[in-house]
Amino acid sequence: MSNICVIGTGYVGLVTGVCFADLGNSVHCLDINEHRIKNLKNGVMPIYEPGLEEIVERNVAATRLFFTTDYTEALADAEFAFIAVGTPSGVDGEADLTYVRDAAEKIAEVIDHAIVIVNKSTVPVGTGDWVSDIIRKKRGENELEYYVVSNPEFLREGSAIHDFMQPDRVVLGSMHRQAADAVAGLYQPLRAPTLITDLRTAEMIKYASNAFLATRISFINEIANVCDELGADVREVAQGMGLDKRIGHAFLEAGLGWGGSCFPKDVKALAHMAVLHGTHPQLLQAVMEINRNQRRRVVMKLRNLVGGSLIDKTVGILGLSFKPDTDDIRESPALEIIHLLRNEGARVKAYDPQAMENTAKIIPDLELCKNPYEVAQDADGLILATKWNEFKQLDFKRIYSIMHTPVLIDGRNEWDSQSLRELGFTYFGIGQGNHVSAGA
Ligand code: UDX
Repeated sequence: MSNICVIGTGYVGLVTGVCFADLGNSVHCLDINEHRIKNLKNGVMPIYEPGLEEIVERNVAATRLFFTTDYTEALADAEFAFIAVGTPSGVDGEADLTYVRDAAEKIAEVIDHAIVIVNKSTVPVGTGDWVSDIIRKKRGENELEYYVVSNPEFLREGSAIHDFMQPDRVVLGSMHRQAADAVAGLYQPLRAPTLITDLRTAEMIKYASNAFLATRISFINEIANVCDELGADVREVAQGMGLDKRIGHAFLEAGLGWGGSCFPKDVKALAHMAVLHGTHPQLLQAVMEINRNQRRRVVMKLRNLVGGSLIDKTVGILGLSFKPDTDDIRESPALEIIHLLRNEGARVKAYDPQAMENTAKIIPDLELCKNPYEVAQDADGLILATKWNEFKQLDFKRIYSIMHTPVLIDGRNEWDSQSLRELGFTYFGIGQGNHVSAGA
């Protein structure tokens, strides 16, 4: 059993803290946001993550998990301090390390015993050394025994607890092998392959992994766009490709592209690091451009399908979160499509099982509906933007009868094109070799 402090109670920090508690450790989760900590103490989660509420409740009841805004309390007995604060994109795409610096300074200010500081946040290559410098300067003459370890996270929103408890690998980087071994010990119960390397290499593994996953998605989306013109079906192309063990099936689903709090930020940050150090990340630039274009292509297709103009047309959007099983709307394709549609004079309405509260905060005048059928009512077009399960088998006969014009854009290739066309819909998927035809 170890004493752990986790700084930051977002997707990464909260899941990391509660999972370490569930493995038997004593964990203090700290956040400077008093409202968030008050809610957590009352069992109110700051994020929607399947299974999170139960695991928090179980570990609070077992007095293994504590929430606080007080660094002194959080670090009192801590052997490990995980920095899991946000690293949002700066104006040029660089990672903003303000919160990392604040956390490192507070640790240096408060700590009175040897400690291992673990960078969990996704941070630019070299940040581990930077954190070490911050602490050394802050401590000045007041020497402290501390070690910095990079331990990047590979959690997917919507399956973060599963991904923590069943990781493909644990990556650790440090100048101090025994510190890395101590952090590896925390993960030992998970029995996952563990790679121990240096700080910079561990930090780069995180960026390279996310950038590669984003590249796979942009690649299959580029192939999808070619399939549309050549009459091939990208879903079966991906199936055929994935049977090659060197390629595999994961992250080859064509659609509206990638969003979320990680891929956009991490690909931009990696490209920024490359440019800053004199290399030209042409592939990463293309990966980002293809992703941006996926949204525009869908709006262009809809415009063509409704007669060449979206002015005064009513468009329904199904799904607002950047992916299913989360309430996170950061860089969500749905929101960008809504902006593009409204810029062309369309009236937009939307529904999402979890993300409407978050959406209303940033698009307060967006018409939000109670269910998918309200979205479809009198619509000239309906776009599937997020593949929530409840959108997969809608009553399309009912939808056909209530839409003003039966035009469907299946942004995630979730619906059955043949049966929808037989019902009389004009259906457009992504990369299905779309021979757009109503009722054929
Ligand atoms: C990602 C990485 O998967 C995770 O390892 C890392 O720690 C954080 O970033 P996340 O952003 O939560 O996780 O979601 P993910 O499931 O990876 O999906 C990212 C985006 O790609 C979503 O918008 C999703 O809709 C999209 N996507 C995913 C595709 O468009 N096609 C695919 O085949 C897979």
